[in-house]
Amino acid sequence: MKIGGTAYRSIWREGEDKSVKIIDQTRLPHEFRIVELATLDDAAHAISTMRVRGAPLIGATAAYGFCLGLLEKTDDHAIHEMSRKLIATRPTAVNLRWAVREMQDLLWPMPEEVRLEAAWQKAALIADEDVAINSVIGDHGVPLIRAAFEKKGGKGPVNILTHCNAGWLATVDWGTALSPIYKAHDAGIPVHVWVDETRPRNQGAHLTAWELGKHGVPHTLIVDNAGGHLMQEGLVDLCITGTDRTTASGDVCNKIGTYLKALAAKDNGIPFYVALPGPTIDWEMDQGVGSIPIERRDSHEVDYVRGLDAAGNVGEVRISPEFTSSANYAFDVTPARLVTGLITERGVAPATKEGLKALYSSSVPVFS
Ligand code: MRU
Repeated sequence: MKIGGTAYRSIWREGEDKSVKIIDQTRLPHEFRIVELATLDDAAHAISTMRVRGAPLIGATAAYGFCLGLLEKTDDHAIHEMSRKLIATRPTAVNLRWAVREMQDLLWPMPEEVRLEAAWQKAALIADEDVAINSVIGDHGVPLIRAAFEKKGGKGPVNILTHCNAGWLATVDWGTALSPIYKAHDAGIPVHVWVDETRPRNQGAHLTAWELGKHGVPHTLIVDNAGGHLMQEGLVDLCITGTDRTTASGDVCNKIGTYLKALAAKDNGIPFYVALPGPTIDWEMDQGVGSIPIERRDSHEVDYVRGLDAAGNVGEVRISPEFTSSANYAFDVTPARLVTGLITERGVAPATKEGLKALYSSSVPVFS
């Protein structure tokens, strides 16, 4: 997507560089800073500190992490260590495990001397495929937004609620949940997005609002607990979120708070769609609740809020008493029964085992 007229991806390699570049997402929206990752440790650190985040981008960064690791060592033991280090960065997004397996399957059988070049090619392919997949997810999502517009008799914008950031910053480009929104907006369908701020890391306030604004999409930031009220008032036409792991039976695990929005949507008869690329499906897992590892992050993220002060300085302030302990659960599971449909690169499926199987049982390339 474009920032100030220049097209960016969220991760890229310039020419034959022995490094990759990322946009440091911990700095947005107040500073647009490009950072270089030159080592495996740089890549692992970028994932764990959320300089890069969002399930598909975590996967792509892990793939490039192998390339950076192979610059140092190319033996089997080194590949094992790279896998271990990358897998340890974040537990919930299954795209990370998927990308590590893709790289392992490619590299293990190869002679050492060709591994590095093959890894660069594979990482580039994973990134390119992610872009293609997400673009097609957008195409499949537009008719849902158009139908909502027609249902309103063409009056007023389609009000879409989203949670966290599942936009182009969370992927290599386009996004998942935001891809249909960008495409609907570009096609002239009036849309307006309710952006959940998404405590504690505020991906909605920091990232979704920023990227929607840069693309000219009308949006309004709301506190996390406002969604239910807006739904009762008839101010939400549909919800679209992303997912970090989708089980084989259609349960989705996404940023903490997604489940509550799905419950409220169900109670108000509002469609709740989840957009995802194939690599986000965990075919080895059936039921999400109690099975998907839910990341627990440092309580510092709950105790402190980062922002811009009146003097224009970015800083953190503590919002709780020093003596209060806090818990930081980063994700929750929304059971399939609350999900109206899964928007994938292969079409829109009911959130059921049969629905997913019907889309993914054929061997057409994942992004077609
Ligand atoms: O903790 P984050 O910011 O990595 O969480 C990201 C999300 O929850 C996204 O909604 C999800 O990864 C889908 S991204 C296309």
